[in-house]
Amino acid sequence: MSKKTRDILSLMDLNREEFIDLIDHAMRLKEQTRAGICPQLLSGRMAGLIFHKPSLRTRISFEVGTQQLGCGAMFITDKEIQLGGRETIADAARVLSRYLDVLVVRTFHQSDIEELAHWSDAPVINALTDAFHPCQVFCDMLTIREKLGVLEGVKVAYFGDGNNMTRSWMNAARLLDIDLWVATPPETHPGQKFLDECLDGAKGNITITDNPANAAKDADVIYTDVWASMGEKDKAAEKTLLLKSFQLNSSLLEKAKSSCIVMHCLPAERGREITDELMDGHQSVVFDQAENRLHGQKSLLLWALGEI
Ligand code: CP
Ligand code: NVA
Repeated sequence: MSKKTRDILSLMDLNREEFIDLIDHAMRLKEQTRAGICPQLLSGRMAGLIFHKPSLRTRISFEVGTQQLGCGAMFITDKEIQLGGRETIADAARVLSRYLDVLVVRTFHQSDIEELAHWSDAPVINALTDAFHPCQVFCDMLTIREKLGVLEGVKVAYFGDGNNMTRSWMNAARLLDIDLWVATPPETHPGQKFLDECLDGAKGNITITDNPANAAKDADVIYTDVWASMGEKDKAAEKTLLLKSFQLNSSLLEKAKSSCIVMHCLPAERGREITDELMDGHQSVVFDQAENRLHGQKSLLLWALGEI
C-alpha cells in the first residue's frame, strides 16, 4: 500500500520550480507516447477516479493516462460511495486509501476534497471542484509552452465567468511570470480577498477588468470557459445577460497580437462564450489543448505518487 506523498488540491500545492519541471516532464512524456513508448512507471498501482459531476476530457484522459503508465483505474460515481452520505468523508477516505494508491476526485465543494485529502493515506488530485480546476490550467500551460515557446512574460486574457477556471489561472499567475488579465463584470468578480492572496508574493501580474477590449489588447492568449458551470446551469440565462459582451469573437481577436492563440477548456457552448469562427479558426488550439490533458496529467500523477 502506498503512503501519502503529494496532494494536488489546487496549483498552490506546486511551487514555481516544480511547476516548470513538471511541464518539461510532460513534454517528454508526450514525445515518448507519440513514439509508442509508454514506460510502465506505475505498474501494480491502482487509481480511483471519483466523479460527482459529468466529464469527457478529465475522466478519459486520466483513464487512458493511468493505463499508459501501467496503473489500473477504477471509475467510481457517487451512486456507489455517496461520499459523506453513508459514512463520514473521513471514514470513507481511510477505507478508500487502503485499497487505492491515488484518488482523482471531481466534486462540488473544495472543503470536501480537502477533508478527503486530510484523512486519505493516498494522494488526492483535484479533477475539478466549484473552486478550482488545477489539472486543466497546468495542462494549458503545457499547450502555451508548446505553441508560444515560452511561459514567461506571456499575456493571457481570460474572458467570462469568474469561476473555478479563473481562480486556477490566478493561482498560476502567482507561481509564474505571466501577465494575466481577467475580463469579467463586477457580479462575477472572483473576489478581492482571493485576488489579494494571489497577488501576495506573486511572480506574475493579475489585472481584473470589466473592459474586454483592454484585456484583449496585445494578448498572446485569449481564453474562455462556459458561462454557467456544472452545478449552476439553472443560472444560464442570468449569466448570459451578464457575460454577453465578454464573448470570444473576431472583433476581440483583432485587438490581440496577430500570433495570439485561442483557448477554451471545453466543453464549449458554441455561439455563446465563443463563436464558431474562433473555435474553428486557424488561431484556435482547443483540440491540442484537450489532447494535452493526457500528457500533462501523467506528469501530475507521477509527481503525486512520488515517482518524479
Ligand atoms: N475541460 C474539462 O475538464 O472537461 P470535462 O468536464 O469534459 O472533463
Ligand atoms: N467552469 C466549468 C469548467 C468545465 C471544464 C465547470 O465547472 O463546469
